[in-house]
Amino acid sequence: MDDLDTIAGPGTPERELLDRIDPDRLPRHVAIIMDGNGRWARARNLPRVAGHRAGIRAVRETVEAAARLGLEAITLYAFSTENWKRPRHEVLTLMNLLKEYIRKELEHVVENNLRFVPIGRIDQLDPSVQKALRRAVEATSRCTGTVFQIALNYSGRQEVTDMVREAVRLAWDGKVHPDQIDEAWIAGHLATAATPDPDLLIRTSGEQRISNFLLWQIAYTEIYFTPVLWPDFGKAELFRAIVDYQGRERRFGGLSPEEAGLFEPSGGGDGGS
Ligand code: FPP
Repeated sequence: MDDLDTIAGPGTPERELLDRIDPDRLPRHVAIIMDGNGRWARARNLPRVAGHRAGIRAVRETVEAAARLGLEAITLYAFSTENWKRPRHEVLTLMNLLKEYIRKELEHVVENNLRFVPIGRIDQLDPSVQKALRRAVEATSRCTGTVFQIALNYSGRQEVTDMVREAVRLAWDGKVHPDQIDEAWIAGHLATAATPDPDLLIRTSGEQRISNFLLWQIAYTEIYFTPVLWPDFGKAELFRAIVDYQGRERRFGGLSPEEAGLFEPSGGGDGGS
């Protein structure tokens, strides 16, 4: 973790949360389903797109906090393959906001040593969006800090479908033997190959769904749902989620250390099931 005062000043509520975080047990990778922009806007009698615009502040603050904490990776779900079903005007605004974000925030992203990596079917986005994304990727290619993955035109099922197609193609061409395809091979051929699986998945706005996000990668991820709407999310909420995460016991299908001790074979028994 960086100097604490640069993330949260002494005596602030976020500092109180930050002080409760054990720096030795940080999640390596945090993934976030940013939800609730529309409801945030409706509550203020504003058009939905005003909620998306307000969501940009939350993106800025959250990725900066992730960088200062020294997380290995943060992944934000910005646009799903299903989001094309939204009104054309809303889709256009989201794409324009993304370009505006890159135009205005790229310097801040570089300053925070974040490496920008878009995931999803990027080649299906408007050429102007692809150009902005390429610029962000290039500008941050030498950044060595937190990997900032942004899922755009992304869905977990589509990602798995693409991986299967690639596997079949390689097998067909004799470049991979079917027996070589194990879990590590699959993980290495997904869009997220460069990052570890998320340890923590956060969804804002009170909805309790996965919505086709990182389906393969979240097999053992801890999930944290918060009623906070995305535009109100920020470093304090990120710290709260990490405090909650650190209070959990991760067993990955095994036993807790205490339980494992209780059932240690003592000579005669079968050790239980
Ligand atoms: C879900 O809220 C949010 C989205 C579909 C888009 C998220 C986009 C942003 C936060 C802004 C752009 C991001 C970047 C990185 C520039 P919703 O519209 O489904 O909210 P609702 O469920 O309340 O209607």
